[in-house]
Amino acid sequence: MRVALAYSGGLDTSVAIRWLQVKYGYDVVTVTVDVGQNDDLKAIEERAKAIGVVKHYTIDAREEFARDYVMLCVKANGLYEGKYPLATALARPLIASKVVDVARKEGTDILAHGCTGKGNDQVRFDITMKALSPSCTIIAPIRDMNMTRDVELEFARREGIEVASEAKRYSIDQNLWGRAIEGGDLESADKEPSADAFRWVNVDPKLLPDDSCYMHIEFDHGVPVAIDDVRADDGDARGMVEMIEYANEKAGRYGVGIIDHIEDRVVGIKSREVYEAPAALTIIEAHRELEKLVLTSHQLRFKQMVEQQWSMLAYSGLWLEPLMADLNRFIDSTQEYVSGKVTVKMYKGSFRVVARSSPYSLYDEGLATYSKGSTFDQSLARGFVELWGLQSIVANRVRRNHHEDRVMQGVDEVSMHG
Ligand code: ARG
Repeated sequence: MRVALAYSGGLDTSVAIRWLQVKYGYDVVTVTVDVGQNDDLKAIEERAKAIGVVKHYTIDAREEFARDYVMLCVKANGLYEGKYPLATALARPLIASKVVDVARKEGTDILAHGCTGKGNDQVRFDITMKALSPSCTIIAPIRDMNMTRDVELEFARREGIEVASEAKRYSIDQNLWGRAIEGGDLESADKEPSADAFRWVNVDPKLLPDDSCYMHIEFDHGVPVAIDDVRADDGDARGMVEMIEYANEKAGRYGVGIIDHIEDRVVGIKSREVYEAPAALTIIEAHRELEKLVLTSHQLRFKQMVEQQWSMLAYSGLWLEPLMADLNRFIDSTQEYVSGKVTVKMYKGSFRVVARSSPYSLYDEGLATYSKGSTFDQSLARGFVELWGLQSIVANRVRRNHHEDRVMQGVDEVSMHG
C-alpha cells in the first residue's frame, strides 16, 4: 500500500517517513511543495530517498501560491489578531491540495502529514484534504503517537535519520510570505528572542544601513504590480514571486519585518510566535494606506470586519469554507478603485508610508487645507455639529437632572460630576 506524505525535509516529516514504514508497512511517496521556502530541494529529495521512500515528487507551486493565495491576503489586509500575515496558514491548503493530487496519481487515498496535535497545521491539512477527498484516510504519526520533539530527536538518532542542526534548536516554517520560528528559547514568552533566531531581518544594529531608503509600490485593483523596478503586470505570477522576494530582501536588510506576539491557536493554546515577514508587512501597510485614500469611511469600516473574519477563516484551516469565497467576492468588489502609488520609507528597523496617490483619490486638498483656497464652507459645520451630538447632549442633561433629584431626596451622594 502506498501513502502520500507531505514532506518538508524537517524533523517531524522525516520521522514520519520511517514511522509509516515500520509501524504501518507502507510504501511512502513523499511530496515536497515549493512555496518559496528557499530550501535545497535536491537535498530534501535525497534525504527522503535516504530514508527509503519509493517515490518523491517536488512540485513548484510558487507562482500559484503568489497569485492565488498571497495576493488574496494583500487585498484582505490579512493579519491574524492584527499581527500575523498568515504565511504558514496560506501555504497549508495549497500543499494539502498537491498531496491529494499526487495520491490520486499514485492510486491511493491514504494521506499523511507530519503535524503535531498541538498546532494549527493539522487543522489546515486535515480539513483541506477531507474537503478535496472525502473518502481519504489521514495519518499523522507525530500526533497519533503523541511524540514530543525530544522523543523525535532520539528516534531520529536511533534510526540514523539526519537532522539539520537548526531543527535541533527551532521549528521553522518558511515560504515566500514569511518565516515562522517556534520552539527552543522562544517558548519563554517573557524573554527576548536570541539574535540567531532571525535569518531574513537584519537585527544587528551595527550592520543596519546608516541611510534610509524608499520602496515604491504600485497597485492595480488592490494588488501590487510593481515594487521599485520589479514588475508583475497583467497577472504575471512569475513577476509576483520576484516582487515579493525583492521586497523581503530590501525591507529585511533595513531591519523591517519582525513580529513577536502572543497568538491564539485554534486548539485553544496561547503561544508566543515570532515571525519574519518584511514583504508582507510593508505591502499590507502600503495597501491599507492606499485604501484609505480611495475608499469611503463606510467601506473602510465595514471592510475591517470582513478582514477580521477572513483572517480568522484563513488561520483556522477554513480556506475552502464557502464563506471564504463570499468574502473574497466582497473584497474584490472593494478593490475596483484601489489603484495607485505608495511610497514606504524605511530606516533602521522602522517603516512608514510617506506618500500616496491615485487617480481615484477621494482626498481633496481644497477641502482639507487650512490655508487660503479652501473650498469647504465652514458655516455648514455649526448645524451639523449640533445634530451630530444631539443625543449625547440630551442624554447627559437627562442623567444629570435625574442625579440631582436623587441628591435632593438624599438617595445619592453628591459626586464630583454631580
Ligand atoms: N503559528 C503559525 C501558524 O499557525 C506558524 C506555524 C508554524 N508551523 C511550524 N510547523 N513551525 O500559522
